[in-house]
Amino acid sequence: MYSSKITGMGFYVPDTIVTNDDLSKIMDTNDMWIQERTGIKERRWIQKGSEDTSAVMGAKAARIAIERAGLEKEDIDFIVFATLSPDYYFPGGGVMVQDLLDMPTVGALDVRNQCSGFVYSMSVADQFIKTGMYKNILVIGAEYHSNGLDKTTRGRTVAVLFGDGAGAVVLSRNKQKDKGVLSTHLHSQGKFAKELSVTKPNIRNWIPYLMENKDDLSYYPYMDGQKVFKHAIVRFSEAIQEGLQANNLTADDIDLFIPHQANLRITQFVQRRFKLSDDQVYSNIQKYGNTTAASIPIALCEAWEKGRIKDGDLIVIAAFGSGFTWGSIVIRW
Ligand code: ACO
Repeated sequence: MYSSKITGMGFYVPDTIVTNDDLSKIMDTNDMWIQERTGIKERRWIQKGSEDTSAVMGAKAARIAIERAGLEKEDIDFIVFATLSPDYYFPGGGVMVQDLLDMPTVGALDVRNQCSGFVYSMSVADQFIKTGMYKNILVIGAEYHSNGLDKTTRGRTVAVLFGDGAGAVVLSRNKQKDKGVLSTHLHSQGKFAKELSVTKPNIRNWIPYLMENKDDLSYYPYMDGQKVFKHAIVRFSEAIQEGLQANNLTADDIDLFIPHQANLRITQFVQRRFKLSDDQVYSNIQKYGNTTAASIPIALCEAWEKGRIKDGDLIVIAAFGSGFTWGSIVIRW
């Protein structure tokens, strides 16, 4: 039986920085409110006229990851692409990356699991490698949020949270025992589907419906923030504990915890619960906001670039979000 390990990483964010003060010019908000409740100072938003989309940013991040893995695009056997903001309703972004990178006709799978999309995607890729079916899989998380937000005072609770960007890893067949992905754990609870959702257009309420019902703004993201917060801190903790237990580890063994960058307050809560030091936790939501499926691969790559991940380190990754869905990955680097 094979195992998998990350052999290359890359990330891409749009150039344009949007600060909290910038937002306060277009809606009734302020830097203090946003920082106190979320930790976010700025985010990247794609500017009108840019070529960037979720697929384009994903392809840019993927190019870096493939190069750092020391591979050619022809070495990639499969693509897993996670996003909640696809370029098209269908087909998904995975096939677009296959085209943008001019890759051979490898399979491409889209994962629609929002904030936990990257964790789910890694788990899928890990299983394909474990069975021996594939050797090198491109796993991408990418989001183009900014064009889908209600950037008025009406939408401020949600709009200030989200940023655009993409991250990618190459997950490869691993020959070293006791290294690489040790375990992945996935969960869902669909009874909370509507608490964090974009519910229209849907197939029963298509574009003509929205044109006739101009007051129905459910094509913008809806979030019950307090409910999401309460569930997030419980599920993050459970997912981490499950991963540690499955590998006979404790929180003391964690060298770096990389959470989905949902909200700095959620991360701090989890950090306190597991008594982790600042050195054991990686946060970059301050710079990028919540980039949903992209947040973990961006954070992972940035942490590695900064020398925060070393050979032999125990890396714990966890995510929670819309669905609700949640999960964790335990990696021995
Ligand atoms: N700027 C200024 N004031 C605002 C803003 C804003 N951007 N948004 C809301 N307010 C106001 C509200 O109108 C309200 O005013 P009122 O008291 O006069 O009615 C007040 O601030 C408090 O609003 P709440 O919605 O109760 O604010 P809360 O303290 O719950 O914070 C937040 C909102 C930050 C979203 C919080 O609920 C939270 O952290 N939730 C977790 C959800 C999360 O982080 N989701 C990330 C995406 S999902 C994921 O990735 C898991």
